[in-house]
Amino acid sequence: MSTSIESIAVIGSGQMGRGIAQVAAMSDYSVKVYDIDKKALDFAKDFIQKQLEKGASKGKWEESFVQKSMDKIEFSAQIDDLKDCDLVVEAATENKGIKFEIFKELDRILKPSAILASNTSSISITEIAAVTKRPTQVAGMHFMNPVPVMKLVEGIKGLETTDETFEAVKACAEKMGKVFIKASDYPGFAVNRVLMPMINEACYALFEGVASVSDIDSAMKLGCNQPMGPFELADFIGLDTCLAIMEVLHDGLGDTKYRPCPLLKQYVSAGRLGRKNKRGFYEY
Ligand code: CAA
Repeated sequence: MSTSIESIAVIGSGQMGRGIAQVAAMSDYSVKVYDIDKKALDFAKDFIQKQLEKGASKGKWEESFVQKSMDKIEFSAQIDDLKDCDLVVEAATENKGIKFEIFKELDRILKPSAILASNTSSISITEIAAVTKRPTQVAGMHFMNPVPVMKLVEGIKGLETTDETFEAVKACAEKMGKVFIKASDYPGFAVNRVLMPMINEACYALFEGVASVSDIDSAMKLGCNQPMGPFELADFIGLDTCLAIMEVLHDGLGDTKYRPCPLLKQYVSAGRLGRKNKRGFYEY
């Protein structure tokens, strides 16, 4: 099997997908971004162009690099357009059913040598791989938000993922200028296994009246040098996403220490989802 990656398809043109597409194009990969929503694709194209122009105006790269990078990206609402890609990075909605359907479809249309990666933050790579006929060529490639800024890619090796697949994914992340770490396929992998209980604990501290939202955030920013406090970060990630990941940790590891905070559940029930709808622990 060839594992040389030259072209990358990105599934989903939301916050993560468009960031992955931007960084891949800037790293000289040919990129195809797929989304079922044409409007989302138009928004992503415009967003990436503006990000590239912003970088040029700050002197991070030449003006000519903006068009050169844009020329590397194609946007499509036809999944069949992805069929010749060497690697797919799926960054669709964090929902098992949706991801399973996408992976079945990708497995059907992509060439046999193609690698299928998921940017999932918590769904089992082994389970995703099992819906395909190429489980040895499926891996996790978990980028952090904002993708162009954060240095990490967390690589996840499913039960059947071969070393060859994993090395190809690692080389691709490194070509994108990222630092790659290896995590095993257990709930939350490495990043969210540590990050989400911290955010959940901040919610418990608020729930129990230990300190206010802004004081807990100040404590962690000024006392622990974190760039964002846990509530700012939770709003940035999305409270629904934080809750979903806590539920994966709780169900998958079965330990009561992962019990999602009732306050977090209540905020999500109230439709306070964070920055994306302008209301979370803060108002925007
Ligand atoms: N896209 C591209 N670039 C961005 C950006 C975005 N969305 N947001 C900020 N930037 C860039 C800015 O252009 C700026 O670049 P320069 O320094 O070259 O000018 C730089 O980032 C700093 O931005 P700002 O000065 O506007 O703001 P800041 O200093 O407050 O930094 C931040 C913003 C980078 C988001 C910083 O607050 C931070 O690092 N926060 C923590 C983010 C984090 O923890 N992310 C991981 C979340 S967990 C996750 O993603 C995984 C999961 O599964 C949940």
